[in-house]
Amino acid sequence: MSRKPIIAGNWKMHNNCNQTVELIEGLKNELKSKDMSNLPEVVIAPVFTSLYVAREELDKCGCQKIKLAAQNCYYEPKGAFTGEISLDMLKDFNLTYVIIGHSERRQYFGETDEMINKKAHAILENGMLPIICCGETLEQREQGVTDSHIQNQITKALEGISNEDCAKCIIAYEPIWAIGTGKTCDSNEANRVIKMIRNTVKALKGEMAANSIRILYGGSVKPETIEEQMAQSDIDGALVGGASLKAESFVKIVEGASSKVMA
Ligand code: PGA
Repeated sequence: MSRKPIIAGNWKMHNNCNQTVELIEGLKNELKSKDMSNLPEVVIAPVFTSLYVAREELDKCGCQKIKLAAQNCYYEPKGAFTGEISLDMLKDFNLTYVIIGHSERRQYFGETDEMINKKAHAILENGMLPIICCGETLEQREQGVTDSHIQNQITKALEGISNEDCAKCIIAYEPIWAIGTGKTCDSNEANRVIKMIRNTVKALKGEMAANSIRILYGGSVKPETIEEQMAQSDIDGALVGGASLKAESFVKIVEGASSKVMA
């Protein structure tokens, strides 16, 4: 079963409009000489306020091959929800993906599994695809509850989603202790957890969904780590934070994943 690898850059709360244009120009320059047919799917997720210029810049520079994602959304279509952004609004930017359930949103903004499930449904109903994040804290890992915690997160996030829709979703396994710390999770262990997630999807949504769903690893992914990560059987790509903020390192990661494109 061949699943097209994805390298997604989660810019987090970085880059105003000018900086967004600069970084996209940098990506365009770095990618110019590369054979795009050989590269994984490339995704960037700027902040909401930069989505407009990002869309404009990608369209104008002929970089339609870089797909655009939002870092969050609200599930209600409109109304008295001060400060929130609906999927109908995000549709304006021709987004492919919306990241949901990032550990920073769970930890600092109280995003719950129930909210993540509602967001997943709303994203799919609006013709986009969720990148559903999951992962354990260091404490949970030390207590030996990593697998049960993640199974629970995935089960709740996918509740009520059809097998067909599930097959198109993306899951990102991001151990919280590896995010922004420089401590990458051992590749064999990341692959073991990702296989466990795939088995969970199989039990919930059947074999077709489990074989098709793309599951990424995230947490201190760097140009030096990507090849080993992509060599693992079940790692279909990476969600990259810090290293996605520089065109050179992000494109090195993109290139590092290309070995799996033809496989
Ligand atoms: P990091 O972030 O690559 O900086 O560890 C990953 C993420 O939070 O998605």
